Amino acid sequence: MDDSHKLLIDIAAASDLSVLEQYRVSALGKSGSITALLKALGSMDPATRSTEGPKVHALREAVGAALASRKEALETADLDRKLATETLDLTLPEPDQPAGSVHPISQVMDELAEIFADLGFAVAEGPEIESQWYNFSALNMPENHPARAMQDTFYLERQEGEDEAKVLRTHTSPVQIRTMESNPPPLRIIAPGRVYRSDSDATHTPMFHQIEGLVIDRAIHMGHLKWTLETFLKAFFERDDIAIRMRPSYFPFTEPSAEVDVGWSVERGRRVVGGQEGWMEVLGSGMVHPRVIANCGLDPAEWQGFAFGTGVDRLAMLKYGMDDLRAFFDADLRWLKHYGFRFLDVPTLSGGVGA
Ligand code: PHE
Repeated sequence: MDDSHKLLIDIAAASDLSVLEQYRVSALGKSGSITALLKALGSMDPATRSTEGPKVHALREAVGAALASRKEALETADLDRKLATETLDLTLPEPDQPAGSVHPISQVMDELAEIFADLGFAVAEGPEIESQWYNFSALNMPENHPARAMQDTFYLERQEGEDEAKVLRTHTSPVQIRTMESNPPPLRIIAPGRVYRSDSDATHTPMFHQIEGLVIDRAIHMGHLKWTLETFLKAFFERDDIAIRMRPSYFPFTEPSAEVDVGWSVERGRRVVGGQEGWMEVLGSGMVHPRVIANCGLDPAEWQGFAFGTGVDRLAMLKYGMDDLRAFFDADLRWLKHYGFRFLDVPTLSGGVGA
């Protein structure tokens, strides 16, 4: 039984699982040494067998147990080795070369939310698939109103059970209605989001972004509107020499209505916002039409307010100097790398919103 003693030592020292398997086959396999001993028991006379039998069976059990315990030890060591090499340190700061960037539209929306939060405005939302009531009728644009034709609307197919087809919202103004309906005044909200119009060239894409502003309170007048817009544009463009000009205009849902121009000037050969060498239109605005306030179940004799709307993409282009709107939506990695923002550049007023 010296051989078997050596076998047990070899098994305990097996360096890996394949060596261990070789020992198992050589001892317990079909033509293994212990298998041969077990077979030999059958041809022994009963007296010898009764003394040899228990020894052979005990050996078989000892080898079986040694194989199992070495196997477990080797597997545990294997797992430990893997755990030690395959580490991922989640406490590391950003990678040296972050792969992604924050899209300028997201960045500008964050900047706007930051600026208006400081003025006490909450952020409101509404659906992009909108009913004609919210997109038009409640905003004082009844059916056949000529203003409905002003916006090149995408109509969806009418679904069963619907009185009329839904539309892709053409502006963020329906969020005015939804907000007034479901929240008691006074109200101060902005509503940024996607809007859709059938239009496409260097400055128009079928999907673009607007931000709506709405204030409803007692004794609100155009002076509040003008101050708010001036304050917002100064903070957004990070300049104090922002000049604005309000021109009488027409929107069905505001009365009076004003288009707002911002002054520009030429600096180092480029047109920038600030100064008063020329004017460009940036916003639509006005006092909320009493009929719109009444459509939301409020008494226009008690509650007044102002609203404004502007293009987020356009603001981004003016501030960060892109000249083709279509590139915003091309997903061109070179463009995103150039115009995108680092994800840690979170806009704050104290840090300068542009970060
Ligand atoms: N909804 C208007 C547009 O898309 C902008 C606007 C908003 C005008 C709020 C007045 C008040 O052109």
